[in-house]
Amino acid sequence: MSAGKDLGHQVPSTTDGPIGMFDSGFGGLTVARAVIDLLPSEDLVYIGDTGRYPYGDKKSEDVRAYARELAWSLVKDHHAKAIVVACNTAAAALPVHELEAELAAAGVMVPVIGVIEPGAQSLVRATRSGRVGVIGTMGTIGSGAYDRAVARTSLGSTVQLVSAPCPGFVEFVERGRTTGPDVTILAQRLLAPILEADVDALLLGCTHYPYLARVISDVLGSHVTLVSSADETAFALRDQLGQAAMLKPDTGASGQHQFMSSGDVAWFKELGTRLLGPELTNVNIWNRKTDES
Ligand code: DGL
Repeated sequence: MSAGKDLGHQVPSTTDGPIGMFDSGFGGLTVARAVIDLLPSEDLVYIGDTGRYPYGDKKSEDVRAYARELAWSLVKDHHAKAIVVACNTAAAALPVHELEAELAAAGVMVPVIGVIEPGAQSLVRATRSGRVGVIGTMGTIGSGAYDRAVARTSLGSTVQLVSAPCPGFVEFVERGRTTGPDVTILAQRLLAPILEADVDALLLGCTHYPYLARVISDVLGSHVTLVSSADETAFALRDQLGQAAMLKPDTGASGQHQFMSSGDVAWFKELGTRLLGPELTNVNIWNRKTDES
């Protein structure tokens, strides 16, 4: 993207325009569900980049480039009034304040909300013992984004964070496999460091993981509180839009929900409906037509 690009009249108006969201695939639907429930009148456009998933094992520069491309598509092609980066790996590779500043430098004044800060805040609130865990993709855990976010959030209190990457979890979800002996065996192996650290709260630091919550909880035990950033992100979005007078007036009518996939659209519709619910009817192919360079 070239900074300083002038989009002039394409700057979205304050209350019109959908909330734009993206993820590498189905995971961001956990956040979409929370946003639809909390802000039912708002229109929503969701891009699942299933053609390039998974992001978790890709180079950070590549994921940064994908995140920029998706954000630009949402503002240019769909006139999004706000962007929710519903993917931890993308938000770890391209922090939301950087993305927001890049868009603003090009004349596009849209709030950008990520999942990392709201998730970290929720995790710190959930712990009693001060021993907490976070699981995520290799990219997210390797970036140290949660170490920094938890340190910022827990200023003044002692919180010990143990992190574990969980390669393989996202692939199970993308195939629609959220339970079964092979998922449990993988979870037992990957969650061993979390069990050993004796945490009382675990943040699901990948938006795909809430779909595996039952297996994860079964492995860790019910004394460990599982924290998902989906609800907290939806609340953060509502607060930010409210403060900026950008919330659509609630007329009682439900918003329009549009979903796009860069991969297999029929599969996105089939699995997406199972994961998100009945709102996922309108699915189209996402073409990389925006040239933001
Ligand atoms: N949902 C993405 C996240 O929150 C998954 C990343 C992937 O595609 O590996 O990190």
